[in-house]
Amino acid sequence: MFNKRVLIKNLLNLEPDNQKVSVMGWVRTFRNDQFIALNDGSTNKNLQVVLELGKFDNELLKRITTSAALKVDGVVIPSPGKGQKLEIKATSVEILGDSDPEKYPLQPKKHSLEFLREIAHLRFRTNTFGSVFRVRHALAFAIHEFFNDRGFLYMHTPIISASDAEGAGELFHVTTLPLNNVPKNEDGSVNFNEDFFQRSTNLTVSGQLEAELGATAFGNVYTFGPTFRAENSNTARHLAEFWMIEPEMAFYDLEDNMDLAEDFIKYIIKYAVDHNREDLEFLTQRLEEEEKQLPLEKRNEMKLLGKLEFVLQHQFERITYTEAIDILTESNYNKKKKFQFPITGWGMDLQSEHERYLVEKHFKKPVIIRNYPKEIKAFYMRQNDDGKTVAAMDILVPGIGEIVGGSQREERLDKLEQRMKEMNIPEKDLWWYLDIRRYGTVPHAGFGLGFERIVQFVTGMGNIRDVIAFPRTPGNAEF
Ligand code: 4AD
Ligand code: MG
Repeated sequence: MFNKRVLIKNLLNLEPDNQKVSVMGWVRTFRNDQFIALNDGSTNKNLQVVLELGKFDNELLKRITTSAALKVDGVVIPSPGKGQKLEIKATSVEILGDSDPEKYPLQPKKHSLEFLREIAHLRFRTNTFGSVFRVRHALAFAIHEFFNDRGFLYMHTPIISASDAEGAGELFHVTTLPLNNVPKNEDGSVNFNEDFFQRSTNLTVSGQLEAELGATAFGNVYTFGPTFRAENSNTARHLAEFWMIEPEMAFYDLEDNMDLAEDFIKYIIKYAVDHNREDLEFLTQRLEEEEKQLPLEKRNEMKLLGKLEFVLQHQFERITYTEAIDILTESNYNKKKKFQFPITGWGMDLQSEHERYLVEKHFKKPVIIRNYPKEIKAFYMRQNDDGKTVAAMDILVPGIGEIVGGSQREERLDKLEQRMKEMNIPEKDLWWYLDIRRYGTVPHAGFGLGFERIVQFVTGMGNIRDVIAFPRTPGNAEF
């Protein structure tokens, strides 16, 4: 019975011709005991359901309240009203689920994003989150399409890991040891021999190291899965649990890597622009409204859809880290001491305000920075001949900053071992990673795209908590 329902998105494209249809969804509004605006999540557009006066029982009409779930049978007719081509003249209405209008938290009015975060279990039923999550879905689909079309193998890397791929120590430990009675060694350290895996384990921060193993057999692979970082950053761009896409390619150098990353980002943005225009138009309007509250200089110069079209039409700027430092040093911002973190010269790590200056004020488009000082990058990056830099690349976009981090990998065993020693990365835990350099090592490269950050970029949502269904951030794991 339920399978016969028509999606409202498809129904709205029909030519009205008295077709008999069955629709199901949730009530957005109900006016004059006659007009139901019904939404089923397939589009922000509501279906107008018309109830003939006097034909339906009063008890039933009382139960048609905001967010009640309905099954409506009826016929598709041209709508005399403005704003819609067609409507449904109901022949029967069945209440599948009541919704108490006194208690339902999502009244049909404007709510703040902060408030909606507290009722994240219901926020999908708003237009904003409807659009955001349909775009998120489209981007995920486009990612698989992009790689599948190019012969990449989708690889599932483990969630539980014994290594820290980034070496940054931002790990969530995984243990079954009793927290109130942790077994200890004689020297006072935790005795992980008694733990589930008989060793210390954590949630993965990245699938890259395992993806490298795959790339050296399949050539091109990618991962797309959740990653976890216990970094205590309460910002609009950081999550403790986020999704990452990590392609890894054999026979690739840094240049190939940058080319692929740029093509990839443009491909998935184009997919959303082509397939989700209605949602992106809605989000463009939403952002415009939101920005009206900001002073002029804080507003985006381009509207959301315009920005996406612009990104598709222009090449990303490519500069070296050294050039980036020169630009920042020479900038008026620096001279007028407007940066919170001063520019201290070559060797410093770039803060997000510096990255955003480069993309938003200086280049006004996405920028790829390459060849960073080895001291501020991970152990696995390929060392350049200058002895100072590594073949790393970050992609920065306006409004967000870094969305991609990647590099050519160090494929030379001796160089890799030397770097691991210098950086105190224990070789014994990564014997398998080193083995790849022993048996048929090849130049290879890869990168990681933060999925929520690209969703933010495409939807124009300012806070990363609003582009993932149930955000995990310091102090918050509700739902
Ligand atoms: O730059 P990151 O740390 O690089 C890696 O993890 C590499 N293993 C990737 C690779 O080469 N295969 O992270 C990659 C991207 C960042 O550019 C950012 O977009 C996103 O992941 N990211 C986060 N997104 C949300 N919340 C966080 N806490 C994030 N940390 C990184
Ligand atoms: Mg990074």
